[in-house]
Amino acid sequence: MSAQSFQVATTKRIDQLLADKIDALPSHAPRLKQAMKYSLMVGGKRMRPFLVYATGQMLGVSQQALDAPAIAIEAIHTYSLIHDDLPAMDDDDLRRGHPTNHIEFDEATAILAGDALQTFAFEILCEDTNQSPSAHLELVKIVSRASGYLGMCGGQAMDIAATDHKISQHELQNLHSKKTGALLTACVEMAIALATNVSSQDKQHLMTYAQTVGLAFQVQDDILDVVGDSATLGKPQGSDQELNKSTYPSLLGLEPAKAYLEELHQQSLQALAALPYNTEVLKSFTELVIRRTH
Ligand code: IPE
Ligand code: IPE
Ligand code: MG
Ligand code: MG
Ligand code: MG
Repeated sequence: MSAQSFQVATTKRIDQLLADKIDALPSHAPRLKQAMKYSLMVGGKRMRPFLVYATGQMLGVSQQALDAPAIAIEAIHTYSLIHDDLPAMDDDDLRRGHPTNHIEFDEATAILAGDALQTFAFEILCEDTNQSPSAHLELVKIVSRASGYLGMCGGQAMDIAATDHKISQHELQNLHSKKTGALLTACVEMAIALATNVSSQDKQHLMTYAQTVGLAFQVQDDILDVVGDSATLGKPQGSDQELNKSTYPSLLGLEPAKAYLEELHQQSLQALAALPYNTEVLKSFTELVIRRTH
């Protein structure tokens, strides 16, 4: 299957699964439910579900077994975007080509929608009848570590602390690896956790791949904030510059940031080349990350 048809199929599947799960929630808090569904369904490239399915299928895991991890990671990611856009954080009004959650609804609803999407992710993982209790526990451990202090939330706090002043390249790499790399790495880690017979060496190569592509994802996001346009991005161009964020273009300059992205691209391909699997779809995932325009 070509990368493009894999992406189309993944997007269709995850969109349907997410809509079904949200629609199945009872309606005692209709505005909150609407706000959760709004951000989940309003668009989004579904890159994290793509990575879950691509890695899992490469390792021989069934698509059904990958559904709950794919839904969970997209729910966590969407929560992180809702909160990232809040006035107390990046204060942005456009996301996925539409008004941000707090603009479409209100700030309190947006905070709660983020909170509820976060716990929704764990509920989905734990309720999945395709998995054993020990697999549930492992998946919950992976997602909670990647989302919390050790991962995305810790990275977001580092991002705030690095606003309005210069940090070293090493610190920036650590920040980006946590705020964005951690959730992408969790996609691969969950697929590994559900697979059988993956050697520890191959696990290591896959984790190197995930960490590299996860960092590359945020480097390209930083570059697009400079060179993109809001209509294509579906979010405000120049948000980082306006807030005086620490980014790769602000630290290194635009051209060196692009060169660093290419370096990460090559590193991720090297990690894939060391694997005894058909890595074509993962290769194309890297291409999507590096070449994307939104
Ligand atoms: C945006 O992620 C936030 C970052 C972590 C850089 P995506 O670029 O995957 O956003 P969506 O899901 O397609 O909206
Ligand atoms: C945020 O990074 C990453 C998250 C954890 C949500 P950015 O603040 O650069 O993401 P965008 O550019 O708003 O999507
Ligand atoms: Mg941010
Ligand atoms: Mg932001
Ligand atoms: Mg950004």
